[in-house]
Amino acid sequence: MMPAAEKLRISRITSVKDLRAAARRMALSDPWLKLGLDAASCFSGLSAPYRETYAASIGGAPAGHVTINMSGLLRGYIQVLFVAEGLRGQGVGEELLRFAEEKIFRASPNVFLCVSSFNKGAIRFYRKLGYKLTGRLKDFLVKGSDELLMRKTTGPLRTFKPMK
Ligand SMILES: CC(C)(COP(=O)(O)OP(=O)(O)OC[C@H]1O[C@@H](n2cnc3c(N)ncnc32)[C@H](O)[C@@H]1OP(=O)(O)O)[C@@H](O)C(=O)NCCC(=O)NCCS
Repeated sequence: MMPAAEKLRISRITSVKDLRAAARRMALSDPWLKLGLDAASCFSGLSAPYRETYAASIGGAPAGHVTINMSGLLRGYIQVLFVAEGLRGQGVGEELLRFAEEKIFRASPNVFLCVSSFNKGAIRFYRKLGYKLTGRLKDFLVKGSDELLMRKTTGPLRTFKPMK
């Protein structure tokens, strides 16, 4: 584990104030900037029903967050994964993703996520951690950029046994 990741504390956030602050931080960063998603749209993404947001901090300072969606056909969908700019490349993203996977794999054999076709660093990151390209949503959020649907799976739904 890399040094920054070793000091991480991860806990769920539910208060509107904390969710708004997390939304403001991600809205200042790509890919959300490039996609024209402001703090209000980011807040909707974090606070919609069935979403759970887990925030990582180091020494009390925010380091990033992950939001998962545990309903519908794409149950186990990672809505957002964000690491604070100054902490990227130090294992925080991998730690947050593994935390989310652990939760999701208790309830479902699939983890899904979308990544923008221009977000080459993130695509490399997800591939390295076992995610496979599953579909392409053409011009999904803005014209000229596709959303790539990626999936990591432990097997078919029909033979999956959820953990109690
Ligand atoms: C993509 C992201 C979540 C990865 O988290 P991280 O903590 O930076 O990544 P880790 O340190 O755990 O893993 C490092 C790998 O991430 C990838 N990576 C993606 N963006 C990176 C960045 N800005 N800096 C460093 N590594 C990055 C690289 O593949 C790197 O592996 P490499 O060093 O072998 O090339 C994070 O960089 C981030 O929040 N980026 C902006 C928001 C974003 O794109 N989120 C995903 C939306 S689907």
